[in-house]
Amino acid sequence: MAKTSKKKASLPLRVLYVSSEAFPLIKTGGLADVSHALPNALAALGVDVRILLPAYRAVLKQVEDLQILGWLDLGAMGEARILQACHPAFRMPVWLVDMAALFDREGNPYTAPGGEDWADNPLRFSAFSKAAALLGSDSLDLGWRPQVVHANDWQTGLTHAFLALEKRPPRRVFTIHNLAYDCQFDFARFQALRLPPHWWSMEHGEFYGKFSLMKAGLVFSDAITTVSPTYAKEICTPEFGYGYASILQHARDRLSGILNGIDTELWDPASDKYLVAHYAPGKDIAKAKRLNRGAMLQAMGYELKRQAMDAPMIGFVGRLVHQKGVDLLLDALPRVLSQTAACFAFVGTGEAALEARLQAIAAEYPERVFIHLGYSEAIGHLLEAGVDIFAMPSRYEPCGLNQMYSLRYGTPPVVRRTGGLADTVIDTTPATLRKGTANGFVFDAPRCGPVGLGLAAGH
Ligand code: ADP
Ligand code: GLC
Repeated sequence: MAKTSKKKASLPLRVLYVSSEAFPLIKTGGLADVSHALPNALAALGVDVRILLPAYRAVLKQVEDLQILGWLDLGAMGEARILQACHPAFRMPVWLVDMAALFDREGNPYTAPGGEDWADNPLRFSAFSKAAALLGSDSLDLGWRPQVVHANDWQTGLTHAFLALEKRPPRRVFTIHNLAYDCQFDFARFQALRLPPHWWSMEHGEFYGKFSLMKAGLVFSDAITTVSPTYAKEICTPEFGYGYASILQHARDRLSGILNGIDTELWDPASDKYLVAHYAPGKDIAKAKRLNRGAMLQAMGYELKRQAMDAPMIGFVGRLVHQKGVDLLLDALPRVLSQTAACFAFVGTGEAALEARLQAIAAEYPERVFIHLGYSEAIGHLLEAGVDIFAMPSRYEPCGLNQMYSLRYGTPPVVRRTGGLADTVIDTTPATLRKGTANGFVFDAPRCGPVGLGLAAGH
């Protein structure tokens, strides 16, 4: 008996990691970075991981060695073909839920070309979650039954609900990456999906007269994690809770905030494949930064002029949405431009109004404000390496990865004290300078005060 349990204990833990995006296969934001870095880090520790993604068109184009593992009957939601594939960026097999009618589409995984959510997102991600749950209970008889199923955000919210219908479900971990994004639908849709009727109740997924995939994820999990300790506290308050604060307060004993890590191989200024000059922070990095800045400006389509190369440059990379506070930065810009010599570089895509504001300000200050309205991994890396200060004035930030990339690239971040920004950036004060812990600049108010971002002349 003792012998058997010893043998069992030495087997690697089996984890099914379920996500709707993973770098480099498909990415809209930090969820993709984490869904690449975390499973790989677990695999490096000896954990037996499988990552499960929807078989979007972009993903199918990039993977190799496709094999069919089998077909799953998802009832009213259709039939899913389950594929196994390889990709050099992943240390483990990549599993894909192939349902051409739902996932074989161009572009962004959640939105149609016009920018609006795909109308059938409830079906798409309920089907994905149901397939995940069936794989989590080894319904294909593959001989691989995970002990832990790790689901992420609303897109995977029903995974644990479906697993709860099993006799002996695996342990169910659900991670909140951003509580502000959810998928909610009405009773007619709930019925059309033929979800178990008892799920439409306050104890399960019903949420203010709708059904919420995020709530289902929270309610049906054994452990809820979120991506920083501060955000774990914030989401238990009405201001940051998006209606879920009381649910999370009640779930406090199974809620924890665990700071995201970053992939220190991909984001390494000494070897980053996108940089034209490599460097190590702590050494003399000015020359390398200058070369990377030049490459960044050229990649953005600008000619190299002296001012942009010599002046201090403040950079921003991110989704152009209310969350990121880019409007606050734009409010502060004229003042900072008039009182300092600083230049600005923005890389982002998102809300049309913010894109238009950026275009207007870049047209007004052609020698000092540089923009790339689009998604470019290469320019994002060059910016981290080429600017002097990284601005991340987010209104809220569950974790945030760019401030951590900035720290690694010797580019001090200016951040608002919220979520993961508060947990990773230590404000520069006489005391933190003395202690040697200062690594950036932190402000409290989510508004533009009289001295802008603290970059006005005299600072
Ligand atoms: P969020 O997930 O809220 O968007 P994070 O800071 O966690 O914010 O992660 C954002 C990720 O997406 C980073 O890797 C960032 O560099 C990248 N990113 C966002 N917008 C762009 C863009 N327009 N071009 C290149 N990379 C981008
Ligand atoms: C979300 C959050 C971001 C976090 C990322 C990865 O998109 O907005 O703060 O870093 O998920 O967890």
